[in-house]
Amino acid sequence: MDTTDLVLAILHHLLVFSLAGIIGAEFVLIRGDLPAATIRRLVGIDRHYGIIAALVIIVGVGRVLYGLKGWEFYVHSWTFWVKMAIFAVVGLLSIVPTVRFLSWNRQAGADPSFTVPAAELAAVRTYIRAEAFLFLLIPVFAAAMARGY
Ligand code: HEM
Repeated sequence: MDTTDLVLAILHHLLVFSLAGIIGAEFVLIRGDLPAATIRRLVGIDRHYGIIAALVIIVGVGRVLYGLKGWEFYVHSWTFWVKMAIFAVVGLLSIVPTVRFLSWNRQAGADPSFTVPAAELAAVRTYIRAEAFLFLLIPVFAAAMARGY
């Protein structure tokens, strides 16, 4: 038994489920119209996305270094690197929505009649849908990685 491994595994699961919840919330919120209150909510949710994603990286790296299998198990695993690559792409895709949410929030604060331009909203929807789809692939590779594929 190894308490460090157990604690890291518990934290990892709690964090990745939180991240899934946040992506799900953004996915649903951007489906309808975006009044100023929803834009503010998106900014708040998105800030948590950043914080939790950073914690996932810290705890994930902790699992690689201090987990039961040892770091050599992971650095030689192609499924581990695919998982890391997908996670990185999801992170890169999330930059565009973050920048847009902040910009819309600023504009809605300055002008109460502001409405989100349809083309920008459509683009953000596409980014978030792509993020959500790719995120679903991460547990697939995580399970394969954990079993030595
Ligand atoms: C930098 C980011 C990440 C790192 C370094 C990382 C690393 C790890 C490590 C070392 C394990 C232990 C596997 C084993 O038992 O041998 C693991 C398990 C797992 N990870 Fe991650 N992870 C990261 C991000 C994520 C994300 C974003 C998800 C989202 C779904 C995720 C989902 C999982 C799942 C579901 C498991 C359990 C696999 C199983 O035991 O079947 N990980 N991860």
